[in-house]
Amino acid sequence: MLRISQLLKAILVATTAAGATASLADSAEILQLAQVSDGFDAEAKYMASCFACHSTGAAGAPKVGAGMMSEWEPRMDKGMDAVVANAINGVNAMPAKGLCFDCNDDDIRALVTYMLETSM
Ligand code: HEC
Repeated sequence: MLRISQLLKAILVATTAAGATASLADSAEILQLAQVSDGFDAEAKYMASCFACHSTGAAGAPKVGAGMMSEWEPRMDKGMDAVVANAINGVNAMPAKGLCFDCNDDDIRALVTYMLETSM
């Protein structure tokens, strides 16, 4: 997963810098394949645990959805590891593990990756 997060960070930087589109689509496909091979259904888990707040932006939650990357860019400035740590431990109105009590740390990382990927 470490390599995926590095890739993602690279994509974010590339998008911000150059508005890359073709390579972005390729990378999103790679990310999706990586998630499937994990055997963890990030989309289903996102819908069950995170969607309620993150689709609407309830309580100031960064919104997830196409074109919402501007909600995430300032947060990603502190690095993927710090963002994932906040999702695991909770921060302000964000509850620890987003109330997904059967998610382990890797699952949360996969969920954050999914949220970023679907916000491009
Ligand atoms: C009860 C509402 C709620 C639920 C459910 C929820 N979140 Fe959040 N989330 C928030 C709010 C509010 C913030 C903004 C916190 C802040 O920075 O003040 C946030 C922020 C975040 C962040 C950004 C952390 C950062 O460092 O900026 C991530 C990542 C995140 N949530 C992931 C998740 C995941 C993954 C799930 C599902 C497993 C989830 N959230 C479920 C409300 C929620």
